[in-house]
Amino acid sequence: MVQQQSASRGTGWQPAQYAHFHDERARPFYDLAGLVQREADMRVTDLGCGTGELTAWLHEELGAKETVAIDNSPVMLGESAQYLRPGMRFEQIDILEAAKKYQGAFDLVFSNAALQWILDHESMLPQVTSMVRPGGQFAFQVPNNGGHFGHQLPAIIAREEPFASALGGLVREDPVQTPEWYATFLHDQLGCTDQRVRLEVYAHPMDSTRGIVEWVKGSVLSWYRERLPADLYPKYLEEYEKRLVAKLGEPSPYFYTFTRILMWGRMPE
Ligand SMILES: C[S@@+](CC[C@H](N)C(=O)[O-])C[C@H]1O[C@@H](n2cnc3c(N)ncnc32)[C@H](O)[C@@H]1O
Repeated sequence: MVQQQSASRGTGWQPAQYAHFHDERARPFYDLAGLVQREADMRVTDLGCGTGELTAWLHEELGAKETVAIDNSPVMLGESAQYLRPGMRFEQIDILEAAKKYQGAFDLVFSNAALQWILDHESMLPQVTSMVRPGGQFAFQVPNNGGHFGHQLPAIIAREEPFASALGGLVREDPVQTPEWYATFLHDQLGCTDQRVRLEVYAHPMDSTRGIVEWVKGSVLSWYRERLPADLYPKYLEEYEKRLVAKLGEPSPYFYTFTRILMWGRMPE
């Protein structure tokens, strides 16, 4: 049985590992920004901003008046000072705490590749969109790659010993829903007057399947790195690589497909 996922302290993240695929990870961010309708003097928040490098780009691209970049990882925010721009500030806070603090405060609530870390999207979406002022916009991107073996494997291994005992039975759950579910929720539950929901397959040619290991080390495996004892995580990683290669072989190059959901909506006045 899958137990309830504990809240993240954000300590499993490794900025350098995440930046390993800098350009590939940035592409959906730019695509998401492309959905935003430009307005003058916008007040913006970027939820789960990471180091803030892309937030700084967004702030300048929109000519925003104010941007509050939010993340709960001290490790990611530790890199952020270099990206500070006039009108921008960083805040170390959990996204759902920020939602309580900043009710109706922003013209745009933006989040790229972060909301998949919050469970129960039925409850999460009304909370994060409550930060949007009436008539304002939100733009969210979440990975939708649960059908790829490389993304199923972390939980498969976590259910086996010795990892299951070390994790106390915890397995990272993937809360991401279908594009149709989000479109319907935006319409029926949030009352969006206008919306775009898009499924996009990003192509990442890799030297071999082992490239996937480097990719997931910078994202989904950070969850297990945070929760496993330090001496057990290398074994977990070793097992991941072994099983991945056993299943997918070692074609070189390997064409890695990464599916993502991009959504944009305008809240009712
Ligand atoms: C995959 S990174 C994305 C970073 C950045 N948005 C980008 O596009 O490059 C996810 C970020 O979300 C942050 N995060 C995850 N859950 C969070 C939460 N509940 N509250 C605040 N930040 C969170 C993590 O610390 C991490 O920096």
